[in-house]
Amino acid sequence: MDSDNLLVTGGCGFIGSNFIRHLLAEANFRGRIVNVDSLTYAGNPENLHGIAEAYPGRYIFEKVDICNPSALQVIFAQYRIDTVCHFAAESHVDRSIKRPDSFIRTNIIGTFNLLEASRAAGRFRLFHHISTDEVYGSLGKEGLFTEETPYRPNSPYSASKASSDHLVRAYHETYGLPTTISNCSNNYGPYQFPEKLIPLIVLNALEEKPLPVYGDGRNVRDWLYVADHCEAIRTIMEKGRRGETYNIGGHAEMENIAIVEMICDLVDELAPAAGSRRRLITYVADRPGHDRRYAIDFSKLHGELGWSPAESFASGLRKTIRWYLENRGWSDRICSGEYQSWIREQYGEQPDGSSY
Ligand code: NAD
Ligand code: TYD
Repeated sequence: MDSDNLLVTGGCGFIGSNFIRHLLAEANFRGRIVNVDSLTYAGNPENLHGIAEAYPGRYIFEKVDICNPSALQVIFAQYRIDTVCHFAAESHVDRSIKRPDSFIRTNIIGTFNLLEASRAAGRFRLFHHISTDEVYGSLGKEGLFTEETPYRPNSPYSASKASSDHLVRAYHETYGLPTTISNCSNNYGPYQFPEKLIPLIVLNALEEKPLPVYGDGRNVRDWLYVADHCEAIRTIMEKGRRGETYNIGGHAEMENIAIVEMICDLVDELAPAAGSRRRLITYVADRPGHDRRYAIDFSKLHGELGWSPAESFASGLRKTIRWYLENRGWSDRICSGEYQSWIREQYGEQPDGSSY
């Protein structure tokens, strides 16, 4: 990829940290990465442990909030930023339902600040914006989201991401800023914060805690292994047409309950317990405004740029569970901290007073 000084925002989160590892391991990329992250509850420097040492002079971390425009100006000037890959966001739908304010602040105002800093930068090459398929709303039983599907976000999270997508598009149309946008389906893999479905179920299954399934468990998501997402982003940044949007998906539609059952069976196999983990499945109150089905048509990305996912859901899930089994210290440190208060707020207590 053609960048000397690439600003990655949110690089201490789940996808951002996987992307930094992925890109630095890529022979075609010879530039320097400046990772700007304010380290919210979801940002964890441990996700990039050893990277600065493994790539001397090519990885720099700056603890900066993207809602601080003057700090961003300094970063752009100091490191002569020529390209931005923008991951930083508040990313959890359930938290956006409880407290939407930080979603408006980071996802909308923060994106605006980055666009302004990019517009002011000299010799600027590309602003790549990472977004979600959730901006398109919910599908019925049939059909797929394409790049032409009208936006119909249903949660404060997806509405804030939709808003940021519109800003990026407008900066291309109005100011000629070179931009690309990708709208991706649900990711899973190493380093995902355990509030999201797959790591939450894996860790609870390992500890033989209840496995909370919202509503009837029949909501459908299209799952993509995070390394496949990283490669799609790299491909779009390298070859994507400026001003365009590309959908990214896994051709892996799954009902939530089927995923939870698969995880139970894999955890039983890899970490046997006295009884089957399926006994722990617990239906809980549904999420308000819960989108029924997401599914992505990624034929534009495949046809124009040749990308398709390498991992199947079964192989990716097995790798992911192995990673969580081998990295219990990582999740123990997260789960023993302030994350506990979110778990109590979201799931309440079990009848015996213990937590989910
Ligand atoms: P994450 O919650 O794991 O990480 C977000 C990162 O952004 C954290 O490191 C956090 O500290 C940082 N951050 C938050 N607010 C910030 C601020 N004001 N200034 C600087 N840094 C800040 O999120 P993720 O799952 O890695 O998602 C990354 C991006 O991908 C988001 O834009 C999200 O909308 C998008 N996305 C995620 C998925 C998914 O399944 N996780 C799917 C499609 C798109
Ligand atoms: P999540 O990982 O929060 O991603 P998103 O809401 O962005 O799709 O949730 C994935 C699906 O799993 C979604 O339909 C909600 C459901 N879910 C549960 O059933 N139980 C849970 O404890 C969580 C966190 C999610």
